[in-house]
Amino acid sequence: MDSDSLPDSIKQQLKAGKLDLNDPADTVALLKLNAVVGVTGFFDQDGKLRSVGLQCAFCHSTVGDSFAPRIGKRLDGWANRDLNVGLIVSLAPNLKPLTDLLGVDADTVKKVLNSWGPGRFDAELDKDGKAMRPDGKQAGTLIPPAFGLAGVNLHTWTGFGSVPYWNSYVAATELNGSGTFFDARLSNKEQYPVAARSGAYNARGKPGLITAKLAALHFYQLAVPAPTPPSGTFDKENTGQSTLRQQGELCELPCPAPIHRAGKQPSFASRDRCGLFSGGSIADPHVSNRTAGGSLDPPERRFLP
Ligand code: HEC
Repeated sequence: MDSDSLPDSIKQQLKAGKLDLNDPADTVALLKLNAVVGVTGFFDQDGKLRSVGLQCAFCHSTVGDSFAPRIGKRLDGWANRDLNVGLIVSLAPNLKPLTDLLGVDADTVKKVLNSWGPGRFDAELDKDGKAMRPDGKQAGTLIPPAFGLAGVNLHTWTGFGSVPYWNSYVAATELNGSGTFFDARLSNKEQYPVAARSGAYNARGKPGLITAKLAALHFYQLAVPAPTPPSGTFDKENTGQSTLRQQGELCELPCPAPIHRAGKQPSFASRDRCGLFSGGSIADPHVSNRTAGGSLDPPERRFLP
């Protein structure tokens, strides 16, 4: 919750423990104040919540703990590693859009969604239909930070494409925005059976609200600097080592220290070396590797201001 959008009266209630954050009525009140980062509520004339919309900030921004745990200043570009995307989606009253798309029953969809856990999301499940890694483990991908992208060539952990490419991918095919996205690679029936079937490789939503926004969004994203990593949290001498640590964290190998994106150039530490198999990387259209930013220690959130 963004503490800057809370009026004093709400802050006092929060301090006094009088606001029940598990009460849906209070959630609605906070949505009205635009205090829930990345979530926009749409209300009817009587003030009743009709629908909600999600923004990129839902996953790619978070808040510090300056006011209370999970209530503080907005941190744009910081990965939201507390957010349990799969659990939230699994609670949707109607899972039919997903069961129809994937051709499986609701219990299977729920099982997959609940396998990801906090800080992960499988942005390719609705293209490749691969719910689990080959070793049977969950295939959710760690949400990367969205800062420090300037100078990095291919984006996503596995190098799907440029920033605007991926922005339009997410806007049109993940967040259901109306507009254009096209990638012929995703029409490959072997690699992307679900996208080939659904036509998601060639999204032409009307009106087209995405393309015109890509340039400004790209400019903004490249301008978000990586915060200075606290000393002792990364290996200054040996960026190769750091890269491996990043990869280690990504593929759940022992990770000696939390590592921060330290302004490095793209790296080609091989995902084969760390056995990286996310839902995306198994079926990566562009077989390359890319290390995105490092991670903050999610349980302790120790770097958050
Ligand atoms: C539900 C969570 C979620 C939302 C919402 C979301 N993303 Fe992401 N984003 C991810 C995950 C997970 C990845 C990693 C994908 C991968 O590597 O397969 C990612 C990767 C990215 C990357 C690549 C970053 C890098 O370091 O290479 C960019 C750029 C990006 N997202 C932009 C956006 C934009 C723009 C939006 C809104 C239109 C958005 N994302 C919405 C979860 C999300």
